[in-house]
Amino acid sequence: MVFYGPKFEQGLRLLLEAITEATNAPKPPLSPAAMHEELAELAGLRGRPAFYPYLGSGIGRGARAMLADGRWVLDLALGIGVHLFGHGNLDLIATALRAAASDLVMQGNLIFNREYNLLMKTLMAHAPAGMAHCWLSLSGADANENALKLVRQKRDGRPGIIAFRGCFHGRTSAMAEITDRPDYRIGQPRTFPVTYIPFYNRHDPDSSATALRTLRQTIAHTGDQTAAMVVELVQGEAGFVTAPREFFVPLFEECRAAGIPIWIDEIQTFARVTELFATTLLGLAEYADVITIGKVFHGSAVLFRKEFAPDPALISGTYSGATVPMAVARRIIEKLTTENILGPQGRESQLERLTRDHLERLSRSRPGAVSEVDGVGAMIAFRVGDGSINRTREFIKRCFDSGLILYFGGHQPTCVRLFLPAGILTEEELAEAFQIMERCLA
Ligand SMILES: Cc1ncc(COP(=O)(O)O)c(C=O)c1O
Repeated sequence: MVFYGPKFEQGLRLLLEAITEATNAPKPPLSPAAMHEELAELAGLRGRPAFYPYLGSGIGRGARAMLADGRWVLDLALGIGVHLFGHGNLDLIATALRAAASDLVMQGNLIFNREYNLLMKTLMAHAPAGMAHCWLSLSGADANENALKLVRQKRDGRPGIIAFRGCFHGRTSAMAEITDRPDYRIGQPRTFPVTYIPFYNRHDPDSSATALRTLRQTIAHTGDQTAAMVVELVQGEAGFVTAPREFFVPLFEECRAAGIPIWIDEIQTFARVTELFATTLLGLAEYADVITIGKVFHGSAVLFRKEFAPDPALISGTYSGATVPMAVARRIIEKLTTENILGPQGRESQLERLTRDHLERLSRSRPGAVSEVDGVGAMIAFRVGDGSINRTREFIKRCFDSGLILYFGGHQPTCVRLFLPAGILTEEELAEAFQIMERCLA
């Protein structure tokens, strides 16, 4: 970004060399006992313990991270899908260091530096056709809140939302009301109508017809009170549940005929489904009115058609993001679109094929242990045993103790979700992860 001169460039080179040296001969900052003490302290501060006894040292190498006590782990959870380029990526660290030298740590919506504009420009150059504008924000739920306002404004204040069974859209009050998990909003009031349509079920040949019938009934009853239909094209928290284009098209046509906008939540799918946008992968751009992204984007954004442009006071906020993640997000998009990661022959597609092969082999060698493989690209899920939450958590915990980080998803049944660091994961590391999983299934 800013060229600070040859002294800065020389200093940056020295810093990167120092980081490489420290990574090659790392010194753990804490003993195992001290790390456990710090994790206990953290649990006290948060009021509940961390999901795993993970406290990073700040040193990482590709798919591996060194914990504060010096133990190395192979990371296929990626902070729930964020770190697509893994840990300690020198390209991203160099970008971050350069951005960190900027005069502003945080950027706002009132004054901003060039990162703000360049990030939006880079993003919009790859956005699905029809998306005319975007607005940056911090978390996925923030972007969704902005999307909700845009669709409601366009629909003259109609409050209702049509969503899908199993959906997850964030944890702000409004997003928790839309998310199909009553157990995530215990003690919270219902303030606007949300109607659920069944999501695609690949085991039910009538799944598409049932969804369409339910949507038609919903529109007939409450269509005139509906602001939008919100959809994850691959359901993330539900366990990487995919659906074909043919499932969505009639539903979207029905909404369009009723004048109901389509809001596509790509917070989880952005950059992880073999294309930058699942909307593009499934050829659904013509139906998308508003799209939200987050996670791999290292911040969040809402993209929208011209007609959804907000009134001047509708969306804003002090912060639009921090300078470092803005610069890093732009570099991530550049890397994704130039390093053979996306597309049918890209690394995400290759890793999907390899992962499916590993799972196929496991299901043959251990009948009943692994089933229900779903997902796409860098997001693949499978069921362990009966899919009970206890069985799944126990498996994930065993894997963690053996040096492999996984995460779960879904709800009765539950599944294991693999978040593949597609930007850097090697075939050997993937094979090693499956060796650990196989041992932990025993
Ligand atoms: C589809 C979807 N929407 C929204 C969110 C909320 O994002 P955040 O946790 O950054 O607020 C998530 C997070 O998991 C998500 O998967």
